Amino acid sequence: MNPSTRVERLLARMTLSEKLGQLQIVFRPRLSDAAQLVRDGIGSVFWPRSAASVNALQRVAVEETRLRIPVLVGLDVVHGQRTISPVPLAQAASFDEALVEQLAALAAAEARSGGVTWTFSPMVDVSADPRWGRVAEGFGEDPHLTSRLGAAMVRGYQGSALSEPTSIAATAKHFVAYGQPEGGRDYNGADVSERRLHATYLPPFHAAVDAGVASVMASFNTVAGRPMHAHRGLLTGTLKQEWGFAGVVVGDADGVRNLIPHGVAADSPDAVTISFDAGLDVEMGGLVSEVEAAVRSRLDHRRVDDAVTRVLMLKESLGLFDDPYVDAAAEITAPSAPARALARRAAARACVLLKNDGTLPLAPARRVLLTGPYAESTDHLGAWTQSFGAPAGRIADAFRARYPDSLVDVVPGTGFFDGDDADLAEASRAARAADLVVVLVGEPSALSGEAASRSDLRLPGRQEELIAAIAASGTPFVVVLENGRPLVVADWIDRAPTVVEAWHGGTEAAWAIVDVLSGDEEPAGRLPMSFPRSVGQIPIPYAHENTGRPATVRGRMELHSADIGLQGPDNVQEKYTSKYLDLDLGPQFAFGHGSGYTTFAYEGAQLSAGAISTAALAEGATVRLDIDVVNTGERDGDEVVQVYVRDVLASLAQPVRRLVAFERRAVARGERARFRFEIGADELALWMPGTGWIVEPGVFELHVGGALDRTTRVDLRVV
Ligand code: NOJ
Repeated sequence: MNPSTRVERLLARMTLSEKLGQLQIVFRPRLSDAAQLVRDGIGSVFWPRSAASVNALQRVAVEETRLRIPVLVGLDVVHGQRTISPVPLAQAASFDEALVEQLAALAAAEARSGGVTWTFSPMVDVSADPRWGRVAEGFGEDPHLTSRLGAAMVRGYQGSALSEPTSIAATAKHFVAYGQPEGGRDYNGADVSERRLHATYLPPFHAAVDAGVASVMASFNTVAGRPMHAHRGLLTGTLKQEWGFAGVVVGDADGVRNLIPHGVAADSPDAVTISFDAGLDVEMGGLVSEVEAAVRSRLDHRRVDDAVTRVLMLKESLGLFDDPYVDAAAEITAPSAPARALARRAAARACVLLKNDGTLPLAPARRVLLTGPYAESTDHLGAWTQSFGAPAGRIADAFRARYPDSLVDVVPGTGFFDGDDADLAEASRAARAADLVVVLVGEPSALSGEAASRSDLRLPGRQEELIAAIAASGTPFVVVLENGRPLVVADWIDRAPTVVEAWHGGTEAAWAIVDVLSGDEEPAGRLPMSFPRSVGQIPIPYAHENTGRPATVRGRMELHSADIGLQGPDNVQEKYTSKYLDLDLGPQFAFGHGSGYTTFAYEGAQLSAGAISTAALAEGATVRLDIDVVNTGERDGDEVVQVYVRDVLASLAQPVRRLVAFERRAVARGERARFRFEIGADELALWMPGTGWIVEPGVFELHVGGALDRTTRVDLRVV
């Protein structure tokens, strides 16, 4: 850390009380209380309000406090401020780093115009369990995808400099292993091995730190029994000392106070002392002030100075000492036309075509029925928006506007949670009278996000019955899903020949969904998280490690075998293998699944060298993987080329496949495009407990393709 002279001088003048004021963010104070809190020296405020009210707080800070230190204004700007983008899980489905960066930049510009300087995003928790409602806020189950998109989001929020009027400080959260709560219940503990911690959960945080993230938030969970707000080894050891993180470690809301019910702190002063000793820099809630008298002599003063320095450096890098105010007249209070266009494109690019019998893109139809609770709902914004996010429209309106020559009938058939037989019967009658049906179903936004875990991942209410009724009508139909997590679709998926996963797409979702149905945009996204066949199968990550007894059915799900000759006869599973007696192998749809409106062929995969030495890898050498992708279909389209590695023989059991690279690119009809990836130590290494990242000699299979079940393979030998 290299504090400026200004920060050093300030620190030298501060009383302990003034220092402790900087080490907390008060959470959503009442309007009437906020000014007094700032006058009393509170350093940061969680403040979902207008530019004018932020300016008023800053005025108190710089005119009515002794040291004139401006405040940080924090807010959960998670997927948009005024213009709401698709939820992060949907953004992940786009497999489009540039898009994620642009969306974050848009959110930052809108938020900063209102005086917000600090967001608590991105969530880079690798999400192991779809019951956990917070999967909506992250980038899914894969550490590589999460690392790349998390870093892109950090770049988007923070721009070229935090002092820019369009930048805000980002927070990588929740450090760490919050994505593996036992039972999928939010806030629950995570008992992770050292290997999994390092190979799966820490890398996205490391990537965010490398991208320059300004802050990191401690998580609510325990790791092997130690609550993260008290975890010195990870907060100080790994994050600050090993990785050199010089930013601010912020606690989660009341996370310090929560050490008491966790049973590791006797009382509030104890909780505060333990947290700051562990490496926390800012407590979220305002507990520090409450216990100031009791902790003054207990806190390590060098630790306090270090934390205050970090906070002041952040304020300085945001330019707040030079100008704490924003131009209230220039506050962005509604989406601009370009912002809407970007959000619309993003919501379309996030769509995943789960299956298609050719009904999509839609051919013009005379009589169209729109059914399902999403036909007329405006609940498209998703799990984490502030009340001032721009509302979304209705799919029915967007559909009618796009198809003025069709007779568009809307019969919801059921609500999200309830419906009666008469409504279902009416939808069924309307379906029989239509030439085409679009079934718009899903989970309302409130079913995902914080404290929104579910034990049943089927469509709620009678929505599955609605799909069955439409299927029985015999009229061609398409199912569109909107949800914030992977769903269990087993009870109806075989009856629905065409299904699009649209997620919660934000302000422009209704228009984007119609763009996708019509073919104006292509649903070429890919699943960032596997869809389980049943809740009983969770967790079902694609990158599970080899078991000693992999279950295999010849010709199917070979992904779930190590190809070591345990196959039985066709469609017969060996008895003593790892599987459920009552479920097919593998997930319903695996990570990376999805297609588009055209087809691609892969040709000529080749490596620049068949072998590379561990010594060369250690020096940063790479092998180039080239592959030609040919658009063999009738339309221009996007392909998401994915590269997976399997380390065939290693000292530790390795994942059957592990994503190490990807690129989404447009390839015009009939065109051939060369995709190029560099494979080096980062792609080939495994985490060895006690040693760290190492590359072991041996054969590495590289599987390249548009989804896990359509890959071609080349082998690389490490010598
Ligand atoms: C609790 C959540 O876990 C965290 O992600 C969020 O930033 C804070 N509350 C503040 O709203």
